[in-house]
Amino acid sequence: MKKGFVFDLDGVITDTAKLHFIAWKDLAAMLDIEIDLTFNEQLKGVGRMDSLERILVYGGKEKDFSLAQKETLAEEKNKHYVELLQDLTPQDLLPGFKTFLDSAKKKQVPCAVASASKNAPFILKKLEIFDEFDAIVDPATLTKGKPDPEIFIRAAQAIHITPEEAVGFEDAQAGIEGIKACGMFAVGVETTEPLYQADLRVKRLDELSVDSLLQK
Ligand code: G6P
Ligand code: MG
Repeated sequence: MKKGFVFDLDGVITDTAKLHFIAWKDLAAMLDIEIDLTFNEQLKGVGRMDSLERILVYGGKEKDFSLAQKETLAEEKNKHYVELLQDLTPQDLLPGFKTFLDSAKKKQVPCAVASASKNAPFILKKLEIFDEFDAIVDPATLTKGKPDPEIFIRAAQAIHITPEEAVGFEDAQAGIEGIKACGMFAVGVETTEPLYQADLRVKRLDELSVDSLLQK
């Protein structure tokens, strides 16, 4: 029996990967590095500083900047990203997510958000669903990023259940690995790439019934 749900944000609730991409692409261009959408796939679920690191390695410039300079670059990217987020509205919720969330809330299933994004609370407010969640893990308090299960363990704790009692929803392979590593049931939200190890795979969350998931 499952008792609660833990959602990733980008790619599960809304698709902000394209906004991250615009902001990273512009920053990379400033550094004479060209990134494309295929490379962007590697940044999904990866924290801000680690994403910058991957871009610098990709451009062969990982040794060119001090930590302080990298922090400034990451801040610049974030400033641009937050500007792009201003236009977000409930229309930007991924198809099927709200129907599923409403059904979970009606059945009083506790719901948490486990996202590496420090902008998650702001994004959830723009999408007008912030109040629907019982907990949002603060990624600044974590020691390890996905695929480490830490964020999922913390999300389950925050809604007072064990990881084994939770269903986790993810669109990134690293996320599915984190979910499985702590014994949660994993729902993979697939777009283009197949997700390995997921217990269930869907294109959109309204393909799922809350009751049947709770019985897993
Ligand atoms: C999510 C996204 C990543 C992003 C990370 C940090 O995991 O999938 O692309 O880099 O959050 O986001 P932030 O908003 O804190 O820069
Ligand atoms: Mg994601």
